[in-house]
Amino acid sequence: MQKIRVPFFDLRQQYQEQRLTLENTLREVLASCHFILGDRVEELERKIAELCGVDFAVGVASGSDALWLSLLALGVGPGDEVITTPYTFIATATAIPKVGARPVFVDIDSEGFSMDNHKIEGAISKKTRAVIPVHLFGLCAPMQELQRIAQKNRLLIIEDAAQSLGASFTSKKNPAGSMGEVGCLSFYPTKNLGAAGDGGMIVTDQASIAKRIKILRAHGASKKYFHEFLGWNSRLDEIQAAILLVKLKKFKKSIQARRRIAKQYQELLKYDPLKLPYEPKEFYHTYNQFVIRVRERDRLRRFLDKKGIGTEIYYPLPLHLQPCFSSLGYRPGDFPNAERAAQESLALPIYPEMTELQVQKVIQTIRVFYKRHL
Ligand SMILES: Cc1ncc(COP(=O)(O)O)c(C=O)c1O
Repeated sequence: MQKIRVPFFDLRQQYQEQRLTLENTLREVLASCHFILGDRVEELERKIAELCGVDFAVGVASGSDALWLSLLALGVGPGDEVITTPYTFIATATAIPKVGARPVFVDIDSEGFSMDNHKIEGAISKKTRAVIPVHLFGLCAPMQELQRIAQKNRLLIIEDAAQSLGASFTSKKNPAGSMGEVGCLSFYPTKNLGAAGDGGMIVTDQASIAKRIKILRAHGASKKYFHEFLGWNSRLDEIQAAILLVKLKKFKKSIQARRRIAKQYQELLKYDPLKLPYEPKEFYHTYNQFVIRVRERDRLRRFLDKKGIGTEIYYPLPLHLQPCFSSLGYRPGDFPNAERAAQESLALPIYPEMTELQVQKVIQTIRVFYKRHL
């Protein structure tokens, strides 16, 4: 046990297991000499749409672009406000000023990591056009109440499902990405379905939105060299799509493996001061991250590090306190739950290829820490 190292994340074994298939598929793409928007991107779009339970999916260059292009396609722009959480990856919020709109943050709830639905109505103004809930770490945000609020106030919902492909709410009937106007996915390598580079996708049930995004991702042109809108180059390429199609075959199994590890952590790390991620009954958590909360976070992190166990902090500084958003005028203390989460959260290693010994090492080492320090 002493010598076993547990990196926070490790793709090497996954690569070794799929090496031949990945290399063959790459050779095929290279030989085809067709690299941009081809059959593989289309096949992936069909399969991801099916997985998300929606009619359309459009591959784009990244999850960040998926958010930005969604706002553009929905006509959100200068003078508009968009409500979102301050406790997420920066891309959720930077997409908003990128279309000329203003982010308005709403604190997360005190129990989990999702935006507190009770506080949303207090943040709605005449300018509010949209809300971006984030399905953080692989768990869907509570959407029913949010859908009610959005309907009542005529707000568009853009789901940030970058971390939550395959997650769902209410017994798998509502996959992440299918509960708003659009859902935004990321295929960044650390995501549960990760490319060998950047990639993203927008999923939607609305044909008109899918059509508009397809135009926007190709410089605003549906016919080559005739530009209806100001678009950009934001395409998922054939090489990434081919890699993702290979990995998609093992996707469900890989989520099951993550859930098995999470179950072990949940059962064997029940210590009073340690708050485990919760999975309400009707939710299906895909554990892109397993994030615990502990007051003595930094001490525990150092201890684990010394024992060869990698961890990560998602996220050390909430977005309302980031220098890039200083012009919005937020102050420390504005969102106490997000600020506390930033001080207490610690992501433990979780990936399908972790061995039983590695999982046990994480559990045993945390136990030793608490025996010594409490
Ligand atoms: C919650 C969230 N939103 C958006 C993104 C942006 O995705 P990408 O890195 O593919 O641009 C990420 C990725 O890290 C994310 O975790």
